[in-house]
This record gives sequence, structure tokens and C-alpha cells, in this order.
Amino acid sequence: MRLEGRVAIVTGAAQGIGRAIANKLHEEGASIAAVDLNGEGAGKVASELDGLAIHADISSEGDANRMARETLDRYGKIDVLVNAAAIVPFVSWDEVNFAYWRKIISVDLDGAYLVSRAVERPMRGAGYGRIVQIASNAFLAGTPNMGPYLAAKGGVVGLTRALATELGKYGITANAVAPGITRTEGVLGTPHAEAFDFVQSLQAIPRHALPEDIAPVVAFLASEESGWITGQVVVADAGHVRD
Ligand SMILES: NC(=O)c1ccc[n+]([C@@H]2O[C@H](COP(=O)([O-])OP(=O)(O)OC[C@H]3O[C@@H](n4cnc5c(N)ncnc54)[C@H](O)[C@@H]3O)[C@@H](O)[C@H]2O)c1
Repeated sequence: MRLEGRVAIVTGAAQGIGRAIANKLHEEGASIAAVDLNGEGAGKVASELDGLAIHADISSEGDANRMARETLDRYGKIDVLVNAAAIVPFVSWDEVNFAYWRKIISVDLDGAYLVSRAVERPMRGAGYGRIVQIASNAFLAGTPNMGPYLAAKGGVVGLTRALATELGKYGITANAVAPGITRTEGVLGTPHAEAFDFVQSLQAIPRHALPEDIAPVVAFLASEESGWITGQVVVADAGHVRD
């Protein structure tokens, strides 16, 4: 098991890709802090994995810091942060106003900064850390009806590169995984669900993506053996977008 003895925080762990990642990291031996705005969902996942549930909003600095504190109180260290929490919107460009723009950016980009900030001090102290952001291939493809999301995910890629540069000397790596459209509760509840068959026709591997297709890529980047990879974006989308 690649993560035996490791402690991993997974945000957005109540459902979808975050939940599959929490399951996979646990299967690889990690103790899990399952973080979500949906406290009940986080609680369910945490109880299945014998982990810690943290009801938190990643766009709140206070909640992000509490997330790190509660994990340290329970487990004494933080080896891994996977930030999968995000709002995945479907909104036409003409409907985007500044309030909506700020709402998406505050969770999808500010949240990525806040949770990374919250874990980097204890990681520095330990001289070890793995930060994995969940970006999106939509940022590369310029997918329609996702304006603020594309901007946020592009920002997450920039943040990942900055974190890699700033934190490498402390033994901390930072990478991003960019999934393609994946069958999650969030996406299946929006008109994006109608795009699966068309996107499949553009993929090299012709089937719909499941959260379990993404989780092993994250598990590798969360492991010690990925230590010579940092500041990178790994696209996991069955060959849809080839950067
Ligand atoms: N599903 C896809 O097609 C797809 C494709 C590319 C990238 N992604 C990315 O993968 C990640 C997971 O997506 P998903 O499809 O599983 O989403 P989802 O909507 O199914 O789940 C997202 C989870 O994040 C939580 N969350 C939302 N805002 C939060 C906040 N402010 N604080 C804490 N938790 C919050 C939600 O409660 C939910 O449990 C996201 O970063 C998303 O951008 C998804």
C-alpha cells in the first residue's frame, strides 16, 4: 500500500470525484479527513473509512484553517492535501454577472489557495507534503457555459505551479489532475450530462468516465514515489484533449 501511515485531507469528499479519491487513498493505507460543505455527506464517507469528518466551506479562511487544525488534533500531521471541492456550473456567458463570477471564483480558486495555505505550514515543519489540486480539461478545451469556472481552473493551474516553485525546498510537491467530463452527482444534475456521448466520440477510449478512473492518478501524485514530479498538470480524460 502506497500511503501506509500517511494522513490525507480530501476536500469535496462527500460525493463524486472527491469521494472516489477518499476511498482510493484509504485503500492505499491513508487516514482520511473528509472535508465538505455537505457535513452529513462528509460524515457518511468518514464513517465508512473510519476517518474524520470536517464540515467546512473551503472559501472561508476560518474554515480552511480549522480544517487543518482538526486534522492535526486528530492525527498529528498532514501528509497529503487533495482539493477536489468546487462548484461545477452550467451558465451561459450572457447570464454571468459579477456576483456570480465572484461566487465561482471564491470557491474554485480562492478555496484552492486557502486550503493550500492552511496545510503548508505543518507540511513545511515535517519537511514533506503532497498537494494535489483537481483542475479540469475544460480549461484546455474552452468548454462552453463555464466561463468563471474556466478562469478559476486556469488559476488553479497557475497556483499549482507557484506552490511547486515556492514549496519545493521544503519537500512539498504540488501537482494538478485535469479530468474530462466524468459521471458524478454534480455533473449529472446539470445540462452537461447531455454532452457525454459527444465527448465520448472525441476520446481515444470510447466510454463514459467514472470517478474511479480519476482516483488512481491522484493516488500516485499523493504518494511518496511521485516525488520527482512537481508543478505539473496530468490530464486524465481518455485522450480527449491532447495538450
Ligand atoms: N465531473 C466532472 O465532469 C469534472 C470534470 C473535470 C473536473 N472536475 C472537478 O472535479 C472536482 C469534483 O467534481 P465533481 O463532479 O465530483 O463535483 P460534485 O458537484 O459531484 O461534488 C463536489 C463536492 O464539493 C463540495 N463543495 C462544493 N463547494 C464546496 C465548498 N465551498 N466547500 C467545501 N465543499 C464544497 C460539494 O458539497 C460536493 O460534495 C471539482 O474540482 C471539479 O471541478 C469534475
